[in-house]
Amino acid sequence: MAKTTLHSLLEMKQTGEKFTCLTSYDATQAHMVSSQGTDIILVGDSLGMVAQGKDSTVPVTMEDMIYHTRCVSRGNTDAMIMSDLPFMACSTPEQTYQNSAALMQAGAELVKLEGGRWLCDTVRGLSERGVPTCLHLGLTPQSVSMLGGYKVQGRDEESANRMIEDARLLAEAGANILLLECVPTPLAREISRSVDVPVIGIGAGSDTDGQVLVIYDMLGMTHGRKPRFVKDFMATANTPAEAVASFVADVKSGTFPAPEHGFDA
Ligand code: KIV
Repeated sequence: MAKTTLHSLLEMKQTGEKFTCLTSYDATQAHMVSSQGTDIILVGDSLGMVAQGKDSTVPVTMEDMIYHTRCVSRGNTDAMIMSDLPFMACSTPEQTYQNSAALMQAGAELVKLEGGRWLCDTVRGLSERGVPTCLHLGLTPQSVSMLGGYKVQGRDEESANRMIEDARLLAEAGANILLLECVPTPLAREISRSVDVPVIGIGAGSDTDGQVLVIYDMLGMTHGRKPRFVKDFMATANTPAEAVASFVADVKSGTFPAPEHGFDA
């Protein structure tokens, strides 16, 4: 398989080929995920919840993210590695530049930041310094206290319009990818069509350019409640590698996500 690049992702958006992203936190997961044809590996700060057993992503540190990014980069084959900047790691542009440099030096090829238009100057500065970015909009788990829980975002007209405008401003500032989490399907469709950069969705319906899931969720290893947007690919697979291959095939063919995995306006 050819190495995923920003250029190949853009080409996929332009030709309508869907791309895939799964989280990984260690070398073995990264090897399995990438060798089954996943385009992007996300070293997500979800590791705080699924690997460390914490209640939210807020306690995750830069040290954690650097460690797991290093582990993932040792197992990766051809996927593009994207790593999360954790809670309060981008409170000033200078702090963000330093933290992004640390993630890139650990093996990330793209950094992910949670937040809207207030990050435009930072995104512009990162882009000028050669750091590609993915901007995470909608349900941003690092702000869960502010959002009052893990809820679908952009359901009313005002917040939907604000998200559309955030997406446009961030793309203009130089964001290379956008990620929409728990956003009504029609709003995610509108945002994906209105920006030139690739848009990844989770709980955002089937009309985004790519799809992401947390590896443990898609392998059926959830403890507690299974979110509506998750499909257990292990239910019909013999091995985890086969489950990942089914995820890739289903996203590419448009079979996943199905309407029941999305949210109405
Ligand atoms: O940290 C993470 O795994 C994420 C995904 C849920 C998109 O941000």
